[in-house]
Amino acid sequence: MENQIKEQKKDLLILAIESSCDETAASVVKNGREVLSNIISSQIALHTLYGGVVPEIASRKHIEKINQVIEEALKEADVTLDEIDAIGVTYGPGLVGALLVGVAEAKAISFARNIPLVGVHHIEGHISANFIENKMLEPPFACLVVSGGHTHLVAVKDYGEYEILGRTRDDAAGEAFDKVARAIGLGYPGGPKIDKISKEGNPDAIVFPRAKVAEAQYDFSFSGLKSAVLNYINGCQMKGEKIITADVAASFQKAVVDVLVEHAMRAAKEFGFQKLAIAGGVASNSSLRQAMEEACRENKIEFYHPSPILCTDNAAMIGAAAYYEFLKGTRSGLNLNAVPNLKLGER
Ligand code: KG4
Ligand code: ZN
Repeated sequence: MENQIKEQKKDLLILAIESSCDETAASVVKNGREVLSNIISSQIALHTLYGGVVPEIASRKHIEKINQVIEEALKEADVTLDEIDAIGVTYGPGLVGALLVGVAEAKAISFARNIPLVGVHHIEGHISANFIENKMLEPPFACLVVSGGHTHLVAVKDYGEYEILGRTRDDAAGEAFDKVARAIGLGYPGGPKIDKISKEGNPDAIVFPRAKVAEAQYDFSFSGLKSAVLNYINGCQMKGEKIITADVAASFQKAVVDVLVEHAMRAAKEFGFQKLAIAGGVASNSSLRQAMEEACRENKIEFYHPSPILCTDNAAMIGAAAYYEFLKGTRSGLNLNAVPNLKLGER
């Protein structure tokens, strides 16, 4: 595929739009891997007031911000719509009202300017974030996608070709971080707060369970762990014992990280992957990055991870994914719709 790019001899510019959850984002990406601009308008401060994302508020905010964010992305990249070769947009999975804002905007620009439209799967975007800073990374590789809504262990067989090896049976890893953070009084979004306070805690202070799914060895389950933390807190309160928040956070985080690393390593070895990448908001967790790096080093597997800003939701990753889809010939019509429960690999 890289040869194909060279043969074209023309730079391919993608304007990418992402609005699946609580970030309104737009980016201009050159040839799939060079980010010319990456504008993210986060609604986190607004949703923090309610302890989590409020879908209706998210949609309204996206509508308020989207034009401004796109204009900024074009300005920062110093390009005009006339130079854009394709528009990539997340059309699922995510909050339907939030997705619709990005999809409607992308369709409007595509129609008005006659620019090809490429609908992108949000998880494909997260995985593709790895291509941006790792210019040499090419499939095949294994990728652990851990975000607020998803926990997937994916075999990336080729650009745009995926096989899901394992997935969560209940809560996503990020969801567990957010729920536990709320329970121990850290607030929303929980992941970064648990990451930070864990540095002051003892990860071996409390032994929380590492769940296994008997009939599916690469699947995950985090709801039992979340309940174990809640039970521990209730137990302490009933006994009048002091809860050391940093210890609870660090012990919980270690339980999550242990399971993620163990599953990813076992899958990489079993399927013979020499490269392993991580993606999604939880991939910015410092303890996960460190543990995965060490495990990869021990097992002689190359480890890849995006910078934190490209782990959490952004449009640059959608631009990278859209580029490879565009090269494969993927085009979306003006009937493109938001698909809140879109499956990876489906169109
Ligand atoms: O990928 P993302 O921005 O949105 C989804 O597609 O879901 O991921 C957001 C999730 C949240 O649950 C947040 O708590 C978690 O990623 N997260 C983290 C960290 N930073 C964000 N979890 C653990 N450690 C972090 N440093
Ligand atoms: Zn995401």
